[in-house]
Amino acid sequence: MSNKARVAVLVSGGGTNLQALIDAQHSGLIEKGEIVVVISNRESAYAIERARKAGIDTHVVTRKACGGQEGFEAKVKEIIDGYNIDLIVLAGFLTILSKDFVTYYDHKIINIHPSLIPSFCGDGFYGIIPHEAALARGVKVTGATVHYVNEVADGGEIIAQKAVNVEDGDTPETLQRRVMEQAEWLILPVAVAKICRKIVAERR
Ligand code: GAR
Repeated sequence: MSNKARVAVLVSGGGTNLQALIDAQHSGLIEKGEIVVVISNRESAYAIERARKAGIDTHVVTRKACGGQEGFEAKVKEIIDGYNIDLIVLAGFLTILSKDFVTYYDHKIINIHPSLIPSFCGDGFYGIIPHEAALARGVKVTGATVHYVNEVADGGEIIAQKAVNVEDGDTPETLQRRVMEQAEWLILPVAVAKICRKIVAERR
């Protein structure tokens, strides 16, 4: 049996955070983890293409095809349990999961959020929106957070954070890019590497 933690990555969009994880796996940073499956809730997600190029199994599961949230979560659960997953990473997965789902995988799901929680987070804060809100509020520092997922949106235990400066003339798009480059793509792979090491160490 492989002595690596088995990781599922859930995505909805471009997949740059997924790419950072794939690169970290190839470089050896995530030495005790292996991404074995990528699940997207959107057919058009470029993240799926990135996974395929890396030779990782992919599944597209849409709420529409499953007849709603319950069917959607049942299908995602079936896939995850079929792969014997140790850690689920939400990497730009822009949909809320039910209390039942997150409780079933207690302390097995982590998420990357593009702000310094507890600022600019919770219901409705996803993608570009936290950056728009940060600029509207006039904060001078923002950043990203990796946290465990529980039934409160963006409310689970914080694992890692990194601050990023807001600069004069920033638009939501320039700020989003800087937060990704200087925070998200760094702290997510490090957090995954650390959790995978812990999972493997606890097996012994
Ligand atoms: C990232 O900025 C991620 O932090 C954010 O969506 C973007 C996805 O980009 N996630 C959330 O807002 C979750 N609430 P990616 O598909 O290129 O990784």
